[in-house]
Amino acid sequence: MAELLFLPHYADVLSSVVSSQVDLHARFGGVVPEIASRAHNELIIPVTARALVEAGIEGEQVQAVAATTGPGLIGALLVGVSAAKALALTWDVPFVSVNHLEAHLYAALLEDPQLEFPLVVLLVSGGHTMLVSMEGHGQYRLLGQTLDDAAGEAFDKVARFLGLGYPGGPAIDAEALSGDPEAIDFPRAMLNDGFDFSFSGLKTSVVNHVRKHPDVSTADVAASFQAAVVDVLVTKARRAAKEVGATALALGGGVAANSLLREQFLGACANDGIQGFLPTRSMCTDNAAMIAAAGWYRLEREGPTRLDHGADPNLRLPTLLG
Ligand code: KG4
Ligand code: ZN
Repeated sequence: MAELLFLPHYADVLSSVVSSQVDLHARFGGVVPEIASRAHNELIIPVTARALVEAGIEGEQVQAVAATTGPGLIGALLVGVSAAKALALTWDVPFVSVNHLEAHLYAALLEDPQLEFPLVVLLVSGGHTMLVSMEGHGQYRLLGQTLDDAAGEAFDKVARFLGLGYPGGPAIDAEALSGDPEAIDFPRAMLNDGFDFSFSGLKTSVVNHVRKHPDVSTADVAASFQAAVVDVLVTKARRAAKEVGATALALGGGVAANSLLREQFLGACANDGIQGFLPTRSMCTDNAAMIAAAGWYRLEREGPTRLDHGADPNLRLPTLLG
């Protein structure tokens, strides 16, 4: 959960407070929705107050309040949206609804406003895996997406199976450091086939391999699994950038914090002579600065969001057709 305040020049992040719930959910091996919304409810006001203090401003100086209206867990979304509307009413400023996926796309532009369109973004989070061509503000072309598990979901499920704990992405990232990425040749589904992804077969393959070879080194499994995911992500992203004639390629979403992905992504961009942009790790995982950035552009484009606009757990990224 996070809250942020910003002034008109969108790139000036005055404060960005992230209150992680990882410790609350770790013993359950994943997010428990009811615990998540209760924790949001308890923390939303203290976190907002801290964000104001760290920004060194009073509430009355805030010019708009943006919040994610989806996609996500409905309980947590409702807490954020209700609090944002209440603050917007109190301060008499616009409320702005932000699509969570659109916000991940904006992380790169927030950190490097010089990036130009068309910008291809590989968005890899716990719930989504998408290749998107940003053709302008609010103009997104969906090039491909996962047909089953998201990349982050695959990391989390494989980590749980290997007994590495939650959240799985950082755990596999760390375990893989002492493993051999070539030890096991895991499948790279749909590698040369379009821009869609599929990770559920890879997950099954990890399970089958470990059951068949119970003495296998966990570090080797983690490193080989990670190498297979990264290989597919990087191969498709660089091909997408070429096809679109992108000026730059960027990463977004929690999995973009992965060390191997970051290294191979930059190597591929250098090889292809295309500008590659990596948001800082804290901008890749969920944070309020990216919500504010997407909200700022949305406010400029479409004006304030009506206060009767609610949260939608299945909200889709608005995309261009054809
Ligand atoms: O974007 P995010 O913070 O939340 C969602 O909107 O889903 O992404 C969370 C996902 C989790 O699946 C987590 O395991 C993964 O990002 N993740 C990583 C790493 N850090 C976080 N995956 C691989 N390597 C990492 N270092
Ligand atoms: Zn996210």
